Amino acid sequence: MEPEAVLKAMADRTRQRALTALGRHELGVSELVEVLNQPQSTVSRHLKILRDAGLIHDRRDGNTVLYSVCAPQADGAASDLAGRLLAWIAQQPLAGSIESRLETAIRKRRNMSHRFFDRIGRQWDALREESFGSTFHLEAFIALLPQTWTVADIGTGTGYLLPTLAQHFQRVIGVEPVDKMLEATRHRIKYHGIGNVEVCSGDLGQLPIAGGSINLAIAALVLHHVPSPRGALAELHRIVCDAGNILIVEQTAHQSDSFRERMQDRWWGYDPDEFSRLLESIGFEQVRWRRLVTVERADDAPDLFVTTACKQG
Ligand SMILES: C[S@@+](CC[C@H](N)C(=O)[O-])C[C@H]1O[C@@H](n2cnc3c(N)ncnc32)[C@H](O)[C@@H]1O
Repeated sequence: MEPEAVLKAMADRTRQRALTALGRHELGVSELVEVLNQPQSTVSRHLKILRDAGLIHDRRDGNTVLYSVCAPQADGAASDLAGRLLAWIAQQPLAGSIESRLETAIRKRRNMSHRFFDRIGRQWDALREESFGSTFHLEAFIALLPQTWTVADIGTGTGYLLPTLAQHFQRVIGVEPVDKMLEATRHRIKYHGIGNVEVCSGDLGQLPIAGGSINLAIAALVLHHVPSPRGALAELHRIVCDAGNILIVEQTAHQSDSFRERMQDRWWGYDPDEFSRLLESIGFEQVRWRRLVTVERADDAPDLFVTTACKQG
């Protein structure tokens, strides 16, 4: 940066105004044309002088080049001079007409994004799903939980939850008694190249997990398959640490023969209040349940509910 170039660049009223405007907002050439009310060729010439003097820089955003004021650098007398002059210019008021044209340009830019969403309206749901899938928000909410937790997914099935859990938690254990399911789970873990998941063969009757070693035990759609729900819940109580948590997703009690037959369920689902009392009788506290309202169910499938509870700390 040359002091002469800095002084020459600053010694012009239009360039001073451009710097004041650019100090407030990153702007494109066409926006500066509107704000300064000057022809494009004039604005481009001024921008070149300012850029050559090292006072502004540009970046490409799609088809637009956006300009902004350079941050002050502590690397010599010329930079120091430039920094001081830019600080002075930033504080200069803009003439009323320039100020209002600057506000209009920024408002227009904001309106562009509003216009886009105004145009697509409800199509956004399809566009979001097409762009990012339908479950990213669930993964995002997991970020609220401590990363240091060890989490076990019991009756993990094909292990579909494990990659999401492994993204966030330090250690994850998937337990499953059926060989074919274990095979699918191991394949999934290998496919995703995940290192912090242990997959083991095991049954809720007697889990291959040390007592008090789990911060969160999950059992999704498993409890209606086990011979003894009480014994299974007692086993979950054993493996979670003091103040540890359980999260159980279950089917509400139903009478659909076709569904039970198709799923080979042992139990007809659970009444959520009775299920909560069962958990309390085993020693869980803060037992809460809630119906899952966004589930897209088959016609004969029962409602689902989630129950969370905590082991006394
Ligand atoms: C309906 S699937 C649910 C799988 C997975 N949790 C999910 O949400 O996709 C039930 C799973 O529980 C497993 N399971 C059945 N009885 C079990 C038991 N006694 N202990 C542990 N898992 C069991 C089954 O092998 C099956 O993989």
